[in-house]
Amino acid sequence: MSSLLIKNAKALVGIRAAGDRIVPGLAMAHLPLLENAWLTADQGRITGFGPMSAPPPPAMTEGRTVIDATDRYVLPGWCDPHTHTVHAAPREEEFVDKINGLSYQEIAARGGGILNSAAKLRAMSEQELYTRSEERLRTMMHQGTVAVEIKSGYGLDLDSELKMLRVARRLKASLPLQVKTTLLAAHALPTAYKTDREAYMRLVLNELIPQVAAEGLADFVDVFCETNYFTVEEMVRILEAGARYGLRGKVHVNQFTSIGGIQAAIAHRALSVDHLEVMEAADIEALAARGAHAAPIPTLLPSCSFFIRIPYGPARALMQHDLPVALATDFNPGTTPSGNMNLVLSLACIQLRMLPEEAIHALTLNAAAAMDLHAELGSITVGKRASLIITGKVPSLAFLPYAFGNDHIDTVLIDAIPVRSGTAIA
Ligand code: NIG
Ligand code: FE
Repeated sequence: MSSLLIKNAKALVGIRAAGDRIVPGLAMAHLPLLENAWLTADQGRITGFGPMSAPPPPAMTEGRTVIDATDRYVLPGWCDPHTHTVHAAPREEEFVDKINGLSYQEIAARGGGILNSAAKLRAMSEQELYTRSEERLRTMMHQGTVAVEIKSGYGLDLDSELKMLRVARRLKASLPLQVKTTLLAAHALPTAYKTDREAYMRLVLNELIPQVAAEGLADFVDVFCETNYFTVEEMVRILEAGARYGLRGKVHVNQFTSIGGIQAAIAHRALSVDHLEVMEAADIEALAARGAHAAPIPTLLPSCSFFIRIPYGPARALMQHDLPVALATDFNPGTTPSGNMNLVLSLACIQLRMLPEEAIHALTLNAAAAMDLHAELGSITVGKRASLIITGKVPSLAFLPYAFGNDHIDTVLIDAIPVRSGTAIA
């Protein structure tokens, strides 16, 4: 299906100029769309679109695979800029502990949490880790995800962190979706280093970062900057080392406590600041002071808040400060055992009080920018990848987040090739 024509679309959603990187603040409520429209794609890229009242010339439609999208919306596919999709196994035993009243921090203190996942991952073969992760990514593509960021962080030693990143790079090579990878060696202090944090820092700074960079295994570097995990000062050292090797920061900050991680991430030019469940006014003001286009992109993870019952990120306050908001799943076995961006869309509207249009921007262009893929994905733009969602026959765009928990996707195309074929493809 290298040449494709989609015709009769109820609307093409999220049409933007090629140079647009993000949509900030209150502008997020204005989602440009074209009703009753057609779109063509060639060699995986969008080559044209327009209204059905001015159809493409016959010469342009000959020999194309045709999709009739009558009563269906065509949207840019979801971009998921924060996940831990490569992991060994789920942790549903902790889920039961949580129902019984233990907090995330209490579970970690009892030997659960990240260290539990690290023990399982170290024991697993690279092939088995690949197979399990591939299955998760196939499910995510079926749910409309066309690009994903994948972190390490369950290896916590040289060999196992490299193993995770090799698996993520292999997934990138073998699956059609776009994959970006992030070194998150500073995710938790491994047990072997409990009495010598500095030795682990040396491993991260002097061995892991240089080796990962030399092998081209990561695009970004991450740190879990949090009380009882890594300090702001440790994060700064890692961001500085990352910068020397061309790895920009995408950091976990303000999940449980506000300790200055945002200000340090701004100063060290992080691409995104993620989580932000616990934000003080000064944190939001610091981002706003840097300006929408220069500040790290605030990336909220509402399905994490939902699952571990912590506060939701302040989406409205961020938008009122003219900042762009991106959304991601945070797919991981501890705090978000779901890679479903459609659930994130509903939670964004229901819990973050984002308008459907704002939330769609946060799952598409802003999310693409949060992993440096805005030139390729995130909007309907001539020249971008034809990685698109074709919905079922839904009455309105608002119906997508409104009728939560239901599957509204009919067809998913990645580079114009179906990864999910519904009834729109005759
Ligand atoms: O993003 N907060 C840190 N890391 C993950 C959870 C990791 C885990 O519990 O396995 C998160 O929520
Ligand atoms: Fe995370």
